[in-house]
Amino acid sequence: MDKLGLFFKSLSVREERHEVQKLLSEVSIDGLVKYMRSELCRRVIVMVGAGMSTSAGIPDFRSPGSGIYANLKQYNLPFPEAMFEIGYFRQRPEPFFHLARELLPTEVKPTRSHFFLKLLSQKGKLRRVYTQNIDCLERVAGIPDEEIVEAHGSFYRSHCLSSACRKEYSLDWIKSKIMAGDESAPKVPKCDECGSTVKPDIVFFGERLPDRFFRLTEQDFPDCDLLIVIGTSLCVQPFASLLELVPQHVPRLAINLTPFKQPSKLEALLGMPGSGFDFESESNFRDIFMQGRCDDMCDDLAARLGWKEELDQLMKDHK
Ligand code: OAD
Ligand code: ZN
Repeated sequence: MDKLGLFFKSLSVREERHEVQKLLSEVSIDGLVKYMRSELCRRVIVMVGAGMSTSAGIPDFRSPGSGIYANLKQYNLPFPEAMFEIGYFRQRPEPFFHLARELLPTEVKPTRSHFFLKLLSQKGKLRRVYTQNIDCLERVAGIPDEEIVEAHGSFYRSHCLSSACRKEYSLDWIKSKIMAGDESAPKVPKCDECGSTVKPDIVFFGERLPDRFFRLTEQDFPDCDLLIVIGTSLCVQPFASLLELVPQHVPRLAINLTPFKQPSKLEALLGMPGSGFDFESESNFRDIFMQGRCDDMCDDLAARLGWKEELDQLMKDHK
């Protein structure tokens, strides 16, 4: 591009920024709520992580003390993430199936935050929930299947690991196998056709995310009006980078108990990004952070939106 072209391009970027400031009347929760109530905000994408389900009794991964990775000493893993690494699993599936007894969606109930998303869906404002969670609580809360992308898979289906077989198994089947072993000697589910290990369709490190994830991210993110991120440390790729895919002018709300990781001095020097949000800078025109428990924050949002009674009712009606 020649100099004149660049000059006009920079003018148009400024123009775009000018428009941006009009989307949120102010960069605050009030400004955001006003925007959410308006007709301009129709297609909301929500990105979800383990923090969304901790109040349902499911631990997250990285919270110091309570997170799964802080409580794996008994398994003698070479490093905590080995628990969910496909190479390690093929060699030694026992630790995963032991832990799976705790991770299985059983009597767990969706949280207030899940029902807030259900309400967004009922209001016709939910474009899609992209969840990293494998607890299926979005489905249980009643969000329609087509509005959910289980980016890291779920226990919903399982497959035989043998590439020659790949027999599919149901949630009930894998549940009964996982719960059959006694606590100290977990059973590894074996394929009844070929005898290979059967693995739930959870995406392990080293495995590709589902095709549906790639297909729908391409379709959804360039064309949304608001991004909400709830209860995730944004440590795992490619999920974490999704927040960069919404257009420059689209407001982004993050709800999390703890602040996001900032790059160290060295990382910043090497040009490595932090969370990708820009809450602090003076030029921020679209990123808002609500720090706290997501159930409280969703409750606060619902109240400000005038949706509190409906949210209470949804929770009451849920069997
Ligand atoms: P993490 O454990 O990394 O992050 C959870 C985040 O939620 C943390 O920042 C917590 O501070 C926050 N949090 C906890 N309780 C909360 C609450 N009640 N309200 C709001 N925030 C809360 O979990 P993820 O980001 O989901 O992948 O982890 C991403 C992926 O890493 C997982 O899907 C899993 C894991 O390894 C695989 O296993 C492939
Ligand atoms: Zn098989």
